Amino acid sequence: MQAARRALSPRRPGRRFLVISPLECVLGAALSATDDQVPPARYDAAVSSLEQRIDALYERITELSAGDTDAVETVTEAISMLDDGSARVAEIDGSGEVVVHEWLKRSILLLFRLRGISTEHAGPFEYADKLPLKHGFAAAGVRVVPGASARWGSFLAPGVILMPSYVNIGARVGAGTLVDTWATVASCAQVGEGVHLSGGVGIGGVLEPINAVPVVIEDGALIGSRSMIVEGARVGRDAVVGAGTILTASIPVIDAETGEELSRGRIPDRCVAVGASRRRDFPGGEFYLPCVLVVRRLAEGERHDRASLNDVLRTHGVAT
Ligand SMILES: CC(C)(COP(=O)(O)OP(=O)(O)OC[C@H]1O[C@@H](n2cnc3c(N)ncnc32)[C@H](O)[C@@H]1OP(=O)(O)O)[C@@H](O)C(=O)NCCC(=O)NCCS
Repeated sequence: MQAARRALSPRRPGRRFLVISPLECVLGAALSATDDQVPPARYDAAVSSLEQRIDALYERITELSAGDTDAVETVTEAISMLDDGSARVAEIDGSGEVVVHEWLKRSILLLFRLRGISTEHAGPFEYADKLPLKHGFAAAGVRVVPGASARWGSFLAPGVILMPSYVNIGARVGAGTLVDTWATVASCAQVGEGVHLSGGVGIGGVLEPINAVPVVIEDGALIGSRSMIVEGARVGRDAVVGAGTILTASIPVIDAETGEELSRGRIPDRCVAVGASRRRDFPGGEFYLPCVLVVRRLAEGERHDRASLNDVLRTHGVAT
């Protein structure tokens, strides 16, 4: 409750970019400008009451059905807040830790309980699902390439580009972020501003257990092709994650310079990290288990040269 009363979507100061070329300058300005277009957080008495009503409904979730119109109305109100960005399932608090607003996760679980399967058609395609898709992309300043889909209850900030990819309910994608082809942003995952999720990247989601922390990708990070970031793992600001990296809550992140294990499941800010392996001795012999190796650290404000190239191509529509 207390965490949930806190501002849901704190404003961040405009991001700073290393000026490498005039093209990058344009990109930096564009991303900073979008910060003000994200809807302000709502945290008032009405939201507090909504939270209490959701919690009360969740207590008797097994008794509910689609015919409970009051419950449907309450849950729709909560999911609409996720959809328009005025609420978010999780955020980083002032101490740098991820806070989960559990009542919003409960509202998603309630939604699945309250909705039946319905059939939809899009041209020759038929779908049978419980949830509607998201609408109003042009008005939201979001570009959605055919083949992409985002479910109602996900939030896409202005300047987001969805290549044929998937964004699930409760997920939040920050301003100016590119979700490249076949990337998936699963339920409740929190992706920051100016992030590049490269082709085939899997950002894991989590609904239950209700207090489980979702994956958080912080502003400016580049996640290399086919990487999998799952199980509440976290990638710091402006970090660069090499193609094919797997990061789960149990995979150690090791500093190549010192050999120190920095964390499990968390790549610090501005680290360039790649998938690697470490030798482990077992009774049955010597085996190699995966780890993530920090091979380089970027200075504050420095952009990795490969990330900069991607930005330039993207700004000018060459790559997307
Ligand atoms: C991680 C990355 C940014 C590193 O680039 P870099 O800072 O220039 O570093 P280097 O290429 O010099 O690589 C440093 C070391 O890490 C290794 N390495 C690089 N990428 C790796 C990866 N994806 N997995 C495992 N090891 C990797 C290199 O072999 C090198 O080892 P060495 O020092 O023994 O030669 C880059 O390799 C990468 O994966 N970029 C993402 C590409 C991508 O997915 N783009 C999608 C958008 S188009």
